[in-house]
Amino acid sequence: MARLKTAVLISGHGSNLQALIDACADPAFPAEICLVLSNKPGAAGLDRAKAAGLPIKAVSHREFADRESFEAAVSFELEAAGAELVLLAGFMRVLTEGFVSKWQDRLINIHPSLLPAFPGLDTHARALEAGVAQAGCTVHFVRADVDAGPTILQAAVSVTNDDTEESLAARVLEQEHKIYPEALRLIADGKVTISDGKVIVEDA
Ligand code: GRF
Repeated sequence: MARLKTAVLISGHGSNLQALIDACADPAFPAEICLVLSNKPGAAGLDRAKAAGLPIKAVSHREFADRESFEAAVSFELEAAGAELVLLAGFMRVLTEGFVSKWQDRLINIHPSLLPAFPGLDTHARALEAGVAQAGCTVHFVRADVDAGPTILQAAVSVTNDDTEESLAARVLEQEHKIYPEALRLIADGKVTISDGKVIVEDA
């Protein structure tokens, strides 16, 4: 059976990308990575993709006059690669409504909090400041509002008394590396649908 052609957009380290690369390395996994694209030409994640023999592109947002022209170049590369699904994995550009609607229901993000709690940056510091007992991460369909959209999977981790931003981030990241490939598997297997703005996961 054909595997779902998946593009991954990154800006940095790419540890979630690595988890996706590792999952797709199994020929029985229902998705394959057709392109890794970074808006930062020096992103370490591009080296991970190269090491795995995957097609890479650097499209620097700095070379474009506005968001729309940058996004048009990104969409061009995604379409040229035949991407059927686009995963944001630490992609640090806010996307316009135009791009989000073009890729509606084919654009996924992972965010290091239990959304709708703590959208935006510095999630772990804010979770600790708020004194929550549970932190975690969320894989969700992207909508025009930042870090909003129907939730596909979440994983929770318990916050301990001596947690720091770093220790909490590390434990959440471990969970990210599990749920992002799992969400990709569910989507590629056709088990994820959206009804009334909410995700229904078959077998969940
Ligand atoms: C992750 O915490 C992800 O949830 C967030 O950005 C971080 C990216 O980390 N969106 P990495 O580049 O995948 O290591």
